[in-house]
Amino acid sequence: MTVRVPAKVNLQLSVGPPRGDGYHDLVTVFHAVSLFDEVTVRPADRTSVVVTGEDAGSVPAGRANLAARAARALATAGMRRRGKSAVRIEIRKRIPVAAGLAGGSADAAATLVACNELWGAGLTQSELREVAASVGSDVPFALLGGTAIGQGRGEQLTAALAAGTYHWVLAFASGGLSTPEVYAACDRLRAARAATDPREPASGAGRAGPPGERGPAAAAEEAHQPRLSTELMAALRSGDPAAVGPLLSNDLQPAAVSLRPDLRRALNAGREHGALGGIVSGSGPTCAFLAADARRARELAVSLTGAGVCRAVAQVKGPAAGAAVVAGERR
Ligand code: C5P
Repeated sequence: MTVRVPAKVNLQLSVGPPRGDGYHDLVTVFHAVSLFDEVTVRPADRTSVVVTGEDAGSVPAGRANLAARAARALATAGMRRRGKSAVRIEIRKRIPVAAGLAGGSADAAATLVACNELWGAGLTQSELREVAASVGSDVPFALLGGTAIGQGRGEQLTAALAAGTYHWVLAFASGGLSTPEVYAACDRLRAARAATDPREPASGAGRAGPPGERGPAAAAEEAHQPRLSTELMAALRSGDPAAVGPLLSNDLQPAAVSLRPDLRRALNAGREHGALGGIVSGSGPTCAFLAADARRARELAVSLTGAGVCRAVAQVKGPAAGAAVVAGERR
């Protein structure tokens, strides 16, 4: 059973203070783009993962792999008998690893869809989404695709009203960034800013006291509560990339740039070469640039390559459909 699954970029990523469980509440606008991994699952004696293609060597193999975890989670949810639930998972990667494009989450989502079909497990979309959320925060969106608002850890989804097709250039960096490290850097930057500017909220601080005792710090804390950009949502409904471009935003960008200062060059180059907007995608280090149309995206891709500010570029379109079966039969 073979499933194709898209990468995502975040058109907005608004990050709140850290929660007790190590995650951050957020509001994000996910947007699936036409850069796809393909995952094939076959019945086997024991579960294994084989990766080919882009960055194959950097994907964790064996039980630590997110796709293998997804297969086990689905076997449990679908009450699949032990011994009948082993699969050989073959991942053909085009989405770079640890790039802020949710490639690992995409492979997990594809594995859920593939195993659900292969086994005839019969989980509904909403049941699949629940299993997906237990595997990772970005996995439910890879099932859904399109453009959607994510809340909570990112796993609570609402489809967004978005018109038109958007043309993107993705600038891939060499090496990856660890998502937990980028979130931690974001917390550190905010705490450092709060220490020098009393109007700035320290991450996680100022939440305890009763409302009456909460002064300017609490008010400032409010400023870090994640919020959806209504301007961005209106621009997406209009389908006008020139309106969307300047409204792209990512609270994790300063943290990603602090860990990878070279990203600043890529972001500047995108702007200089005519992108309508440019952001670090998710936790980075990929940068996503919005172009007015396919021709301008092609020109931008050529310019970014010539500027030597990234390892490689890809020209993609969004929104793309979520994980979908492309071939296979049930066993
Ligand atoms: O859910 P997932 O396993 O993909 O998250 C990876 C890491 O990213 C988490 O362990 C956490 O450090 C960070 N994260 C976060 N807040 C979120 C999503 C992820 O802090 N909403």
